[in-house]
Order: sequence, then C-alpha cells, then structure tokens
Amino acid sequence: MKHTDIKELFDNEKDFGGKDITICGWVKSNRSSRNVGFLSVGDGTYFSPLQVVYEEGMEDYESISKLLSGAAVSCEGIFTLTPDGRQPFELSAKKINVLGECDNTYPLQKKRHTFEYLRTISHLRPRANTFQAVFRIRSLTAMAIHEYFQNLGFVYVHTPIITGSDAEGAGEMFSVTTLPAGEADYANDFFGHHVSLTVSGQLYGETYATAFKKIYTFGPTFRAENSNTARHAAEFWMIEPEIAFADLADDMDYAEGMIKYIIDYVMKNAPAELEFLNERIDTGLLERLNHVKSSDFERITYTKAVELLTPHSDEFKYKLSWGVELQTEHERYLTERIFKKPVFVTDYPMDVKAFYMKQNPDGKTVAAVDCLVPGVGEIIGGSQREDDLDKLLARMNTLGMDISEYEYYLDLRRFGTVPHSGFGLGFERILMYLTGMSNIRDVIPFPRTAGSCEL
Ligand code: 4AD
Ligand code: MG
Repeated sequence: MKHTDIKELFDNEKDFGGKDITICGWVKSNRSSRNVGFLSVGDGTYFSPLQVVYEEGMEDYESISKLLSGAAVSCEGIFTLTPDGRQPFELSAKKINVLGECDNTYPLQKKRHTFEYLRTISHLRPRANTFQAVFRIRSLTAMAIHEYFQNLGFVYVHTPIITGSDAEGAGEMFSVTTLPAGEADYANDFFGHHVSLTVSGQLYGETYATAFKKIYTFGPTFRAENSNTARHAAEFWMIEPEIAFADLADDMDYAEGMIKYIIDYVMKNAPAELEFLNERIDTGLLERLNHVKSSDFERITYTKAVELLTPHSDEFKYKLSWGVELQTEHERYLTERIFKKPVFVTDYPMDVKAFYMKQNPDGKTVAAVDCLVPGVGEIIGGSQREDDLDKLLARMNTLGMDISEYEYYLDLRRFGTVPHSGFGLGFERILMYLTGMSNIRDVIPFPRTAGSCEL
C-alpha cells in the first residue's frame, strides 16, 4: 500500500504542499455538518493527528460522515497548506476508503478513562494519547541508552534469562521447570538441576567486563518480590553497565552522564509528547527535567543521610537508625524535600547490601550507591565490586552461600583481578521519572505484578 506517514507531513510540510498524497490511520474523531466533514486521523507515527476534510459530493459522503472513532481508513487527496487556519495544513480528501469499521462497543470511544480501567484493556490502551506519549518515550529512551553507551565504546552483552545463580542473593526468584506440579526432584528436570529466571545480569556482565573493559546489558529481569507497590513489577527491564578499572566515583559519573543524556535525547526527540505529559500528567515535568539536565547530582554517604533524616523522624512511618536500609519514604524525603534533585547515597552498611560489594576499610560499610530521584525514589542501584578473592570468599562464607555455584565468579578474582564497578538502572523507573506517570504498570506495555498477569 503506497502511502505517506503522517510524521513525514509534519516534518516536511512545505515539500508536500499542493501534492496528491494518501495517508492511512485510525479515526480519532469525526464531525460533520450537512455539506462538510472533518476527520481527525492518527497513524501512530506522530503525536498529533492529521485533519482530513471531506465534502458533500465525495463518494460515500453519507457513510463516511457516520464513521465512529477507532475505524481504520486510507484517505487520498491534496495536501493543503493552511497558514491562516487553526492547523498549519490539512488533507482535502478526494476519496476515503474504510479499511476496518469500528462500532460503538469500542472502549476508547469515550474520551477520558481512568488508568486503572485502561490497564484492563492493555491491548487497546496504546491507542490512547497518554500511552502514545509514554510508549514513544519508552522507545526513544532505549535508543538513548544504547547511544550513550555505544558512543563511549561499551560492548552490548546479552546475558541469559534462565540462570542457576541468584545474582542478588535475595532469593526472590521464579523457578523454571518442566516438572509436573508437586514434583521437585530437580535432578530429573530439564537442565538436571534447579534454575530460575534472572534477577540481574550483573554477575555475567562482570565476566565480559573483565574481557572488554566496558560493557552493558539491557534486558528483561524478573523478581518474585511480593511488594504490591506502584514502583515494583515482577517483570521489568534493567540496564547494567559494568566497567573495569573504575571505582565508585567513576561509576556515579557514568550514571549521571547517562541520565542527562537520556533527558536531553528525549527532550529533543519527543517535544510534543513531553508537552502533553507536562500539561495532563505532571505539571512540574518539564521544569524538573530542565533543572536536572543542568545541575550536579548530590553525592552523600549513607551515614550523612541518616544524620540529615534523623531530625525529621516524626514524619516517618518506619524508624530510621544507622544500620537499617532506607525506606522509600526516607529516600523520597532526601531527594524531594532536602535536596530537590537527584541524590547519590553511597557507602551503605555491609549487612543491608549484596555479597559482591567492595568492603570499605572501616569494616562496616560497602562501596554501594543508590541514585534517588524526586517522585520515584531509587532508580539506580550499583557498587564497586569486591575484587579481593579472600575478602569475597570470607563474605560469602559468612552469608552461608554455596561457593561451588560461584566458581566462575571467583575466577575473575583469581585471573587478573581489577577494581571494577557497575550499576543497574531500572528502565521502568526512569520512564516514570521522564513521563511523570506514577504507576509502573502504566510505563510497561503488558505489566506483570504480584497477583496480576493479564494477557
Ligand atoms: O538495586 P538492584 O536490586 O541492583 C541490582 O540488581 C544490581 N545487580 C545492579 C548492578 O549493580 N548491576 O536493582 C537495580 C534497579 C533498581 O534501582 C530499580 O530501579 C530497579 O532495578 N528495580 C526494579 N524495577 C521495577 N520493579 C522491581 N521489582 C525492581 N527491582 C529493582
Ligand atoms: Mg537496590
């Protein structure tokens, strides 16, 4: 079917002025009087729809004027520049073909729906304006991330989705098995032992970082966390760079550079989408993104964070004292109330963090970092890795880990060990930040969360 994308018309309107063209798309709205009608047609290539004008006398005028929104059409006509009109141009239709009718049971005929309702029709919601904006930004953000790392010479590594090791040591994994329900003799299972869906590609990432120096992964991640919050999904995407010859400060530089690059890229490539979200979803969005682009992220230690938060302990549900993990309410207080910008919190107590983190000389803390942002809380978790074989082994033994499962990981410390660091960016978390959407279910096409896996 020869036709023009609506985006091309918006990008190069002058080139098309006065020309005969065909566009295809779905009717967003249709209004007509006795002798003229206006279809607003969107094809998903551009945020704004194209206005198609049809006049009495055109073949099928009667039936076109009755078309309901949602119908698929192709429209042939003259692309007309209308510098004095409400829109800069329109298509003066000569012929409109109905490719697919849509009746009044189509759920999106009503203009405004709640996000809760739209989640129940996740197969149709990408046609709604908000989701057109969100999922275009999702695609652009993925591109920005690849560009950022590729420009810096990072190698993209595909780490496995099925794995035998619990990378985070938190035990929140989904088992993968072909055994009938109730039979747990994994020796008879498909792989001959127990395997799960990955919670992180990091440990595999480290193997490639000690070969290519700078690598990143970008893939789906699974966590059977039973926390039914607006920020947790059971299936989400994570970006995990891993850098050899890098300490925690280098790690934060890369993270900060990446976030600024993403914001810049999305602002350049999705201005209409951001404008819409700023108007409809989060009125502080553009101001916040502009501010973040031009300011330095705060960097404070966990110990300092506890000191800063302690005077406000009346305002928290969870009591805070040195040694306990920061809760979302503490994280948000730091980034939203105290600093009003992204904050890196570093050097957490060893006991609240994963086994692989570099032990600090104080014997109490590890070289960990979380990046907290207003509105969302934690979007990045990372660390310098323990590169000393003896210290790593001692830690794993203290935690009662099965060393035999991690021999490959220990080999990296046996054969040419180097200081190295990395982090994990939650893809949906940064999308919440970029779009102002407040529920993770609304930035992933088909959400999977505790108790819910529709479609
Ligand atoms: O802090 P996390 O658990 O760190 C890791 O997995 C490390 N292996 C990363 C690394 O150093 N390579 O997870 C990283 C990020 C979090 O900051 C958060 O943004 C996101 O992943 N995340 C989730 N996003 C949505 N739903 C969940 N259940 C998430 N759990 C973590
Ligand atoms: Mg974390």
